[in-house]
Amino acid sequence: MSHPADPGRAEADDAELEALRQCLSIGDAAAGLTSPNPPVGAVVLDASGRVVGGGATQPPGGPHAEVVALIQSGTSAVGGTLVSSLEPCAHHGRTGPCTDVIAAAGITRVVFGAADPNPIAAGGAAALRSRGIDVVEDQLPDEIRRSAVGRWLAATEFGRPHVTWKYACTLDGRVAAADGSSRWITSEPARADVHRLRAGLDAVLVGSGTVLTDDPQLTVRDEAGKLALRQPTRFVFDRRGRVPANALVRDTCAPTTVWDGDLRAGLSALYDMGARAVLLEGGPTLAAAFLRADCVDRVVGYLAPALLGAGPTVVGDLEIPDIGQALRLDMEDVTLIGTDVRVTAVLRAARPAQPAAAGH
Ligand SMILES: NC(=O)c1ccc[n+]([C@@H]2O[C@H](COP(=O)([O-])OP(=O)(O)OC[C@H]3O[C@@H](n4cnc5c(N)ncnc54)[C@H](OP(=O)(O)O)[C@@H]3O)[C@@H](O)[C@H]2O)c1
Repeated sequence: MSHPADPGRAEADDAELEALRQCLSIGDAAAGLTSPNPPVGAVVLDASGRVVGGGATQPPGGPHAEVVALIQSGTSAVGGTLVSSLEPCAHHGRTGPCTDVIAAAGITRVVFGAADPNPIAAGGAAALRSRGIDVVEDQLPDEIRRSAVGRWLAATEFGRPHVTWKYACTLDGRVAAADGSSRWITSEPARADVHRLRAGLDAVLVGSGTVLTDDPQLTVRDEAGKLALRQPTRFVFDRRGRVPANALVRDTCAPTTVWDGDLRAGLSALYDMGARAVLLEGGPTLAAAFLRADCVDRVVGYLAPALLGAGPTVVGDLEIPDIGQALRLDMEDVTLIGTDVRVTAVLRAARPAQPAAAGH
């Protein structure tokens, strides 16, 4: 381990970067539980560089990740390094400043991924340095962007929740047969994967068309069909009040909002409700509306080895006149799940809706 010999170096070493990757995994596992706060992970290395503690930010009102990790580390933290996916906060919110706890624990060095963009919580790096603690910031930016805390950062920048659009289609790009039926295009393992995706997000969004055709429940269930303890909010875009009173999305298994307003206003309402990362599961009409409004950030497509030849395709008209103006995405991941392929890609230039006021 290099850092005891060179405590003031400006770069993170391999052990610290590895710890930061661990922080991202810890934060990803907490996604969906912390909003409106960020899903942060923190890890403590002792003076010899050994991992002695770790933890995630707890649900709102609970301790931040740094505090959880330091409690676990106890006195082993003295002279050690705290690694965190986000800049430790320096403000009194529902909990005290993490910077105070870090200094009191005897930490001498802090390495973190991204700066906190929230003006109220920011200033952690400066507060730590003013106490003589070494600080290394802005590490692993690409990996941060792809993580749950990266989605929270995007939401804070955009002033609306980060939007993942998910669909399941046949190899010829159909999301339903000509009669509108779409159960089940993909295999059981792919459907289980969707439940894991939902579990890490704050809300599930559909249009009235999907509710009227499929009557989905849109809850998180395990493979035995048991409901998860925490359920994302179901948010139905329904301008003409067509969602029936007995639709499954209106049952008591999860909170539901039926929204009769505008798309962007709907996203603002979700942001105000505390949602920072949401899953768009609507049909081709709503998906097209979101894409036209620059309100899709990530796409997760499940491609089944089946052909239909007729029926709705994944997305409606995007009013793109020629191939030169195609919406381009960057591929993040391709994985075989059961008999289906899951493709994850990010939009190159999702644009902010408005400047945000965020809360950590
Ligand atoms: N395989 C899949 O992944 C998948 C997923 C979902 C659906 N589907 C299939 O897709 C079909 C339904 O397609 P769909 O396009 O009708 O469903 P949809 O996109 O979920 O719903 C469309 C409806 O949303 C409402 N809406 C509210 N605000 C809107 C806005 N700002 N812009 C556009 N629409 C808005 C509109 O009705 P109002 O004008 O009344 O508001 C519109 O008719 C079904 O066959 C279903 O099985 C497949």
